[in-house]
Amino acid sequence: MIQKTLSIIKPDATERNLQGAILKMIQEAGLKITAMKMIHMTRTQARSFYAVHSDKPFFDSLTEFMCSGPVVVSVLEGENAISSYRQVMGATNPDKADPGTIRKTYALDIERNSVHGSDSPETAEVEISYFFSQLEMAG
Ligand code: CMP
Repeated sequence: MIQKTLSIIKPDATERNLQGAILKMIQEAGLKITAMKMIHMTRTQARSFYAVHSDKPFFDSLTEFMCSGPVVVSVLEGENAISSYRQVMGATNPDKADPGTIRKTYALDIERNSVHGSDSPETAEVEISYFFSQLEMAG
C-alpha cells in the first residue's frame, strides 16, 4: 500500500548540519521526498503540533526544544511509508534503537532524537496538512 508520512528533522540535527546525511538515509531506504521545506517554528506552533502530548511531563521541554532552531519538514511517500520510516528512524529512545537507524546513529537523547515520523495514517494526514498546503505538494 502506497502511503505518505510526515518527517521532521529536529533542531539537534540541523544544528549539527546533519540534514543531508539524514535525507540520504531516508532516500536509501526507498522513501521518496514529495515535499520539503526548512522552517523555524514559534512556541505556539510547536505546542499546537505536539498538542497530543500536552499532558506529558516532557511537553514543555519538548516544545521549547522544537522551537529552539530550524527544522526540515518533508512528506515521504512509498510502500508502507509510515512503518517503513519508523523502522529507518529507530526507537524513540536512541539507547533502544537498532544499529544503522537514524536515531542510533545521530540522536543525542530521548528528547533530542533527531527525527519525528507520523505514527498512523490518520496522524500522517493531520500532520502533513499542518505543514503543507495542497499547492506545496508537488510530488
Ligand atoms: P517524537 O517521535 O517527535 O514524538 C514525541 C517526542 O517527545 C519524541 O519524539 C521525543 O522527542 C519526545 N519524548 C518522548 N518521550 C520522551 C521522554 N520520556 N522524555 C523527553 N522527551 C520525550
